[in-house]
Amino acid sequence: MTKIITKEEILLAKKALDNGELVIFPTETVYGIGANALKENVVDKIFKAKGRPSNNPLIVHLKNKDEISKYAYISNEIEQKLIDTFMPGPFTLILQKKNIIPNNVTCNMDTVGIRIPIDEVAHHLLDILDYPIAAPSANLSSKPSGTRVSDIFDEFDGKVSYIIDGGESRIGLESTVCKVIDNVPTILRPGFITKEDIEEVIGKCNVSEYVLKEAHGNVESPGMLYKHYSPNTKCFLCDKEKINEIVKQYKKAIVIGNEEISCYKFYHYGNDLVTIAHNIFKLLREADRDKADVIIIQSVEYHGLGLAIMNRLIRTCEYNYIKRN
Ligand code: TXA
Ligand code: MG
Repeated sequence: MTKIITKEEILLAKKALDNGELVIFPTETVYGIGANALKENVVDKIFKAKGRPSNNPLIVHLKNKDEISKYAYISNEIEQKLIDTFMPGPFTLILQKKNIIPNNVTCNMDTVGIRIPIDEVAHHLLDILDYPIAAPSANLSSKPSGTRVSDIFDEFDGKVSYIIDGGESRIGLESTVCKVIDNVPTILRPGFITKEDIEEVIGKCNVSEYVLKEAHGNVESPGMLYKHYSPNTKCFLCDKEKINEIVKQYKKAIVIGNEEISCYKFYHYGNDLVTIAHNIFKLLREADRDKADVIIIQSVEYHGLGLAIMNRLIRTCEYNYIKRN
């Protein structure tokens, strides 16, 4: 559901950003908690509000492609082709940064994540600003990303100056984060733009080995290092054939999946990957409010958008994945 946003609301959000304050705004992927990306002291407030580790860099959101060269270097044809094909949209490209981007945005890395949202409200806002917005997903660090204002309101009440409520996020999962490494696009975090989509345009696309396994030490995308997307309730990722067996071990087991099963409470997440992506963070938050003993989430296939869903769920469940034999 898209809500109508008035010009006055956009202007109030601009005013808050101009004053060096934080604003929560919708994008097509998930909500962002944003600040003026060019002001170091203002960017600091984002890390504080989220409780975000100071070595996990932020994405910089721009109004259009012409702006990219103000903030980053486009170093080869592959980067240019990725920009031409996937921007604006749910795609973040890691580029060599220019000095104008403060070091705390990128956590002292020499690269910066650039994204141009396609969501209309995000655009209206970016269009009237004369600076880009640094924004991570709007959720406390380690919690599921926010796809509805009602889910995140309490987490940020009193910490941000303005919230634009654009209704439910259309996609529901964060953007694909991609970096060209040795001339090959490499997916650091899978998202709505899939490996298959990139291969169709560029021919070859690698996927970081950490997408489905735990990362330690020095990795290309620090976001892979942390506990992530997790409700307070204990969660298991589970192949369909095993769900019944696990449900029986708990008094109050919630199941999130696509086939109704007898348990404390069942949430239907959809029958196709696009619907599952759209629903999953919202359902994790709803299920958490039920205060059950466990949340069992049905796994999906790994290909296409399934890779992004599994990348999030494996972290939601802190790598507790019960597979069919
Ligand atoms: O869809 C999205 O990407 C949302 C909306 C608000 O744009 N934003 C988002 O931001 O998901 P965040 O901060 O939750 O995730 C950003 C991811 C993290 O995994 C971070 O480590 C990675 O992008 N990242 C950012 N800058 C990077 C860089 N220079 N090099 C490698 N990874 C980077
Ligand atoms: Mg996030």
